[in-house]
Amino acid sequence: MKILVLGSGAREHAIVKALVRTGTHADKIVVAPGNAGIANDVACDPSLNMMDPAAVTEYAKNKGFELVIIGPEAPLIEGVADPLRAAGIDVFGPSKVAAQLEGSKAFAKEIMAAAGVPTGRAHECTTIEEVESAIDDFGAPYVVKADGLAAGKGVIVTNDRDAALEHAKKFLRLGILVEEFLDGEEVSLFFLSDGKSVLPLTPAQDFKRAFNNDEGPNTGGMGSYTPLPWLPAGFVDEVRETIAEPTVKELANIGAPFVGLLYSGLIVTKSGIRVIEFNARFGDPETQVVLRRLVTPLEGLLHKAASGQLASSPEPEFSNDVAVAVVVASEGYPDSSAPDRELSGITEAESVENVEVCVAAAKNVDGKLMANGGRVLSVVALGKDFHHARKHAYEGVAQIKLEGSHFRTDIAAKVAND
Ligand code: AMP
Ligand code: GLY
Repeated sequence: MKILVLGSGAREHAIVKALVRTGTHADKIVVAPGNAGIANDVACDPSLNMMDPAAVTEYAKNKGFELVIIGPEAPLIEGVADPLRAAGIDVFGPSKVAAQLEGSKAFAKEIMAAAGVPTGRAHECTTIEEVESAIDDFGAPYVVKADGLAAGKGVIVTNDRDAALEHAKKFLRLGILVEEFLDGEEVSLFFLSDGKSVLPLTPAQDFKRAFNNDEGPNTGGMGSYTPLPWLPAGFVDEVRETIAEPTVKELANIGAPFVGLLYSGLIVTKSGIRVIEFNARFGDPETQVVLRRLVTPLEGLLHKAASGQLASSPEPEFSNDVAVAVVVASEGYPDSSAPDRELSGITEAESVENVEVCVAAAKNVDGKLMANGGRVLSVVALGKDFHHARKHAYEGVAQIKLEGSHFRTDIAAKVAND
């Protein structure tokens, strides 16, 4: 099957690697725009503007793509899936309306309320006075969220009332959601959805803060691991029954079936599981570890979801190995951006046992690889346990050469007990 993958990040690289690892021929895949790292594995076409629904549809029709996988949230929220689907092409990625589950936190809260899905209490605010009264209502720690896309930087969790108000002022034009603070471990659990039924992948944990010990600002994600051995038995079934299925049913009820990846961002609190956010696409860097362990052919799973046939699909299978991903970021990320700098050591990193590198931001300039973004790459390692997976991952990271770059040294340290 000819497959077009839209996107240019480490997530898309991980999707490509998983497709190929589970049986898809590399020459059947094109990534647009892709990046210089992804281009080492499959063809990339930087000429296509993935944000242009008509251009993407023409492109996919003319070149005979049979399945389009939309990686990032921006084209989904732009509505790229709709004309593709209308043209009869199978698309893994929700419609413009269904993608509002990620695009608007207020929409997500409405769907959750209608579906009876457990989530934190929240106030929608449009003025600073409303924000003030909401944060004083809930008390510290304060959780203030921009109601729109902000590349992982729209949320602040702080004990500093002034910082909470400052954040609200900065994002007031997007609308603000003030939420009660939820205390507990975070879990990302992905579901494939065909609009009617869902299939769970395997739970993962993301490290959102920039620095060790969960210090520093929120980022897009600095590392991840899977599975989560500390979860209670029955966790996945409970999330499926109380969160994923009711949400997908509610979206179908309002005429916006969700076809694609339902990312449930959860906190396991003392009083039960709560949703902190939904995303409408694979998470980054969780995808790097989740798909690394996938055994079932990914092409079949995504195609079944895209074509409404998930009910006839067996549950996805995962290897017994564990996986750890460590993100290497440019100097200054996430607060400021560094100039493009030479990047090397990917081949050396991949020669470490069980290590793969998923590239997020790199381009070729005169035959040299240059890092050109905040999160530059993920080093992904498999191991029989977390001690081994971490060892491989950090040996791989040590091979990466990029001036000023930084990474966390404590990814999956707690679960490995070392
Ligand atoms: P979000 O973009 O909604 O996922 O928020 C980013 C991060 O902020 C989450 O991964 C959590 O670490 C934190 N966060 C968001 N909402 C809450 C909440 N209600 N209580 C505690 N932490 C939160
Ligand atoms: N890992 C967080 C995200 O993909 O939004």
